[in-house]
Amino acid sequence: ARVVQLRSELLRWYDQEKRELPWRTLAETELDVNIRTYGVWVSEIMLQQTQVATVIDYYVSWMKRWPTVQDLAAAKLEEVNQMWAGLGYYSRGKRLHEGAQKVVTELKGHLPRTVDGLLKQLPGVGRYTAAAIGSIALGQVTGAVDGNVIRVLCRLRAIGADSTSPAVTEALWTLANTLVDEERPGDFNQAMMELGARVCTPKSPLCSQCPIQPHCHSYSRVHLKQEQTSKKL
Ligand code: ADE
Repeated sequence: ARVVQLRSELLRWYDQEKRELPWRTLAETELDVNIRTYGVWVSEIMLQQTQVATVIDYYVSWMKRWPTVQDLAAAKLEEVNQMWAGLGYYSRGKRLHEGAQKVVTELKGHLPRTVDGLLKQLPGVGRYTAAAIGSIALGQVTGAVDGNVIRVLCRLRAIGADSTSPAVTEALWTLANTLVDEERPGDFNQAMMELGARVCTPKSPLCSQCPIQPHCHSYSRVHLKQEQTSKKL
């Protein structure tokens, strides 16, 4: 019951506050699942080590030049590298290009339709990226745990343990999978990312603006402590 509330409060906040990013517009309006998946794949690879604000222009130019996975597969690696210049970590562009060629030659041009397929078939796509593409482009019901989401979840459940340890990582994925909204998994995951980037920030989080503050164990701990202290004084 509380989880149902958390979902609807987070999604309501996202619907009001989300940034209109080109890959979101594409995922919402593009009817062809292969094009949607391709676009979200490109965006997620670009976002792996580069900030949202920088990625926007690169993403728009990329999709203009290579609107489909077939177009990308037919490109020369030098062109891809030229387009990538400025984003850094060139191997990401190279792997996108390799992946596109693999999709065309081995998968008849069809990108995988499941998280597991994305993970196994696409070079450079790990657990998080497969979950992000699967939920955003394909509506697969899975959590997606990236750096921002780790911080949000650790605060939500007041997890103080080392969040890079394998046991905590597994616990966070399990938690993300239980929280994710079954109707709107892609929006839910993007809402968690957006919350981490804009509200539940590393330093001085903006708790007063947080849509899920009533559910946050870290917030209630600090808050309760302050109330007890002020009663004593
Ligand atoms: N970081 C990685 N994927 C993202 C997305 N879809 N929206 C915002 N930030 C992101």
